[in-house]
Amino acid sequence: MPANPDRPAARLVVLVSGSGTNLQALLDAATDPAYGAEVVAVGADRDNIEGLERAQRAGVETFVRRVKDFDDRAAWDADLAAAVAAHRPDVVVLAGFMKLVGESFLSAFGGRVLNTHPALSPSFPGMRGPADALEYGVKVTGCTLFVVDAGVDTGPIVAQSAVDVEPDDDVESLHERIKSAERTMLVEAVGRMAREGFVVEGRQVRFGTVRHQGRQPLG
Ligand code: GAR
Repeated sequence: MPANPDRPAARLVVLVSGSGTNLQALLDAATDPAYGAEVVAVGADRDNIEGLERAQRAGVETFVRRVKDFDDRAAWDADLAAAVAAHRPDVVVLAGFMKLVGESFLSAFGGRVLNTHPALSPSFPGMRGPADALEYGVKVTGCTLFVVDAGVDTGPIVAQSAVDVEPDDDVESLHERIKSAERTMLVEAVGRMAREGFVVEGRQVRFGTVRHQGRQPLG
């Protein structure tokens, strides 16, 4: 039985660049119709990654768009946006996708693109979240799910989860502990967004479809 027979499962397109454990958590959650979302396609910016194999094992369609196959970054971005659009997503999830999406992508899906980052924003943006946190010497770090904007890990925050830094952590052990929290955060937040809807007002992301200040919900 679907969670809400009046609301079809939200269509997720997930983009990955690596091992895809966050993708796997979404694939596993979506096997329950009550979850309210299904992964309809998985895209990547490179071949031969475990993330694509996870999708294929789950019977989910995949596509690859490599930057080096295009004249420039803008052409890649536009083609990636078209490949995603072909699957008619309600929400696009960047789950370990190690490229910044650009103007074409955001004009197609702006406000509906989520990214998961392995640090507590606004601390430690960029590609080295766990390493930067370790080097800085923080005692608590974590993960952040946010709505992608034109900046680097700067968009409105959907959810965060804190993780202790242990005295004997190295980058790998810390990142693995963060990823465990990240998978739980991602599955919970995306499920709520799918089942309840969500609105973005400035920097505030709210579950549900009622906008404050009299504005209309997205989509
Ligand atoms: C996750 O920790 C994700 O936050 C991070 O890559 C990992 C992917 O793991 N993404 C970034 O750092 C993006 N800037 P996974 O492939 O096992 O899901």
